[in-house]
Amino acid sequence: MLSKSLAPEMAATNALILERLEDVGVPLIPQVARHLIEAGGKRIRPLLALAAGAITGAPESGTRLLAAAVEFIHSATLLHDDVVDESRQRRGRPSAPAAFGNKAAVLVGDALFARAFEMMVATGSLPALGTLATASATIARGEVAQLAALGHLNTSWAAYVEIIDAKTAALFAAACKAPALLAKSPHADALAAYGRALGLAFQVADDVLDYEGGLGKEPGDDFREGKVTAPVLLALEGREDRGFWARALGNIGALPEALERLECVGALDAARARALAYAHEAQGALAPLPTSPLKDALLALAPYAAGRG
Ligand code: IPE
Ligand code: IPE
Ligand code: MG
Ligand code: MG
Repeated sequence: MLSKSLAPEMAATNALILERLEDVGVPLIPQVARHLIEAGGKRIRPLLALAAGAITGAPESGTRLLAAAVEFIHSATLLHDDVVDESRQRRGRPSAPAAFGNKAAVLVGDALFARAFEMMVATGSLPALGTLATASATIARGEVAQLAALGHLNTSWAAYVEIIDAKTAALFAAACKAPALLAKSPHADALAAYGRALGLAFQVADDVLDYEGGLGKEPGDDFREGKVTAPVLLALEGREDRGFWARALGNIGALPEALERLECVGALDAARARALAYAHEAQGALAPLPTSPLKDALLALAPYAAGRG
């Protein structure tokens, strides 16, 4: 298991995350950031960065900076995302906008983004900084593309994948690639391809679990927001009634019927199968890497990412 093999490195990364939260001078920044960061989270992106760094022999201090920066970028996007999605729960507690208001969540999100860039610069690797800078721009583009697509029932599967590729898979890919670039490893592209496919699996699974619940987030957020995600798309590809979704999407009162319909046409299972296919693609991408216990841990992570969220 990845988190076990990397426990000491992850503990050091968590310490760095907390250290970089404290030295900013304005108490509201650590207060809001700690509310989110101390609530836990799986830390999957920094774990990927630490694994990629260890596999490619990147310097430990630079890898740790990249891992912490990746979690800062992720935390910043969550702060902004919960404002945009009007989500009231995150990691089993009130979201930062619910607890501190939208203004604090937006501004502290910006502060975390900026701190992430300081840490990336501190690695001294322009290629590592470049891949994470591009990923940051891509995430923002994905979130805006998703906003523009809200309620569009004619969204194609390809257009949906383009959105989740940008909003989620880009950071997974960069988390895997940046330490490899720091190490000047020949495996940077293979690790990036693994991260990308893993991120797609992860987001499709998350979109299933948004209907099923149990993630420490409020179930039905995507439906309430009018997001056309994998389960809805796959239901519409089958024999599901488009008229119902045109009337119901965005109306939280219709969520129980929507869930029943998704289950009835097998759309949640179909979406889970797509997630698993991306997980297999992720495993295939690691073929060029020599065998090692950490590679085995990355291989084992893929079906897990496709099953949970
Ligand atoms: C949530 O990411 C946002 C998505 C891309 C689905 P995680 O599921 O990794 O969130 P935490 O960090 O574990 O809370
Ligand atoms: C996650 O988007 C991607 C980013 C935060 C950029 P979602 O809106 O699908 O994720 P959750 O469900 O709020 O975690
Ligand atoms: Mg959200
Ligand atoms: Mg969102």
